[in-house]
Amino acid sequence: MKKEEEFVVTPWEVRGKVDYDKLLRHFGAKPLTADEIALLEKYAGEVHPLIRRGFFYAHRDFDAVMRWHGDGKPWALYTGRGPSGPVHIGHMVPWILLKWFSDKFNLEVYFQLTDDEKFFDDPEMKLEEATNWAYENALDVIALGFTPDKLHLIVDTKDIRPLYPIAVKAAKKLTWNTVKATFGFTDSTNIGLIFYPSLQIAVAFLPTELRREATPVLIPCAIDQDPYFRLARDIADTLGYPKPTTLYSKFIMALTGESKMSASNPDSAIYTQDDEKAVKRKIMNAFTGGKPTAEEQRKYGGDPDICPVYHYHMLFDPDDASVEKIRQDCRSGAMLCGECKLKLYDKITKFLKEHKEKREKARGNVDQYRISVKLK
Ligand code: TYM
Repeated sequence: MKKEEEFVVTPWEVRGKVDYDKLLRHFGAKPLTADEIALLEKYAGEVHPLIRRGFFYAHRDFDAVMRWHGDGKPWALYTGRGPSGPVHIGHMVPWILLKWFSDKFNLEVYFQLTDDEKFFDDPEMKLEEATNWAYENALDVIALGFTPDKLHLIVDTKDIRPLYPIAVKAAKKLTWNTVKATFGFTDSTNIGLIFYPSLQIAVAFLPTELRREATPVLIPCAIDQDPYFRLARDIADTLGYPKPTTLYSKFIMALTGESKMSASNPDSAIYTQDDEKAVKRKIMNAFTGGKPTAEEQRKYGGDPDICPVYHYHMLFDPDDASVEKIRQDCRSGAMLCGECKLKLYDKITKFLKEHKEKREKARGNVDQYRISVKLK
């Protein structure tokens, strides 16, 4: 592999230009096929644009959970967030799909906020700070408008009770050798982080414990989380649980044009708490697939495939015809980058304005969604 082609994807780090097909082969997950998408359409009546447009592009046993649903058997949804700071709109994308699944199939949603993971992972992070971020991030989740009795939040350090018996059973099946090879742990990794995978795995089995019948989960998330669920699937049978199923997205491009946004460069991402001025500055300064001068752009057109601005239009505009027009106008040179950026600014500020209002309404209500409060 040539130096410039090298890339790294782990649950804690994404570096370089990601080759998504190569990553699938490496992880052993499968590309999402037209037949599998047709199966979803059969049961949901439609296909969400994030799937139709190939942003969610891979899976483990998605077809199996669709057939399970077809047989009238119970299933549930699961995803999560490591609360290390504010939520950017990249994080929200899988959650938008999560909500769609919950509404379409009337499903319970288990959402894990891993303040423990972020405390273990970051030497500078205080536990209170991570827990506080869990509550702040929960506001972004609630703001998406899940049916209240369907959304179950799990803040690891607050809601450990229902998880812990499952986590210890999972931990007993996972050797140091396996987790070392899967996550790249070393002799200097703290033992909290080494135990942590059993907690992320435990939630995948929680619905089965709560319902006392086989209830597989579907986990929509980005491909970086696959290592956890590969292990969960390996040990599910021996623990008497159904294997979790997954649906994987690519990463939202950073505004700088790189594969993934970075917390160390706040201008690479738009955060849900950014004000309109910051959103405008970030979008107007973004890297694009355009040519250096307006004259060249008019003559040769731009390249939407490498352009984060186009990428965001694709993610936030539900109208296929409007996205296709942006693509064509970019390629033909009919539209310049400045105009395209302003269009995006309008879409994102509209989304964020509504989101912020709902987010503030949720403040003070987080506990009513927490699983251990509900189970009391
Ligand atoms: P975290 O906080 O790193 O990421 C949260 C979710 O966002 C996805 N994601 C992205 N998706 C698109 N584009 C991006 N640039 C981008 N960056 C992150 C991640 O895949 C994830 O779905 N360990 C987890 C927390 C967790 C979890 C889970 C995640 C606990 N249980 C179950 C998924 C499913 C974490 O730190 O996620």
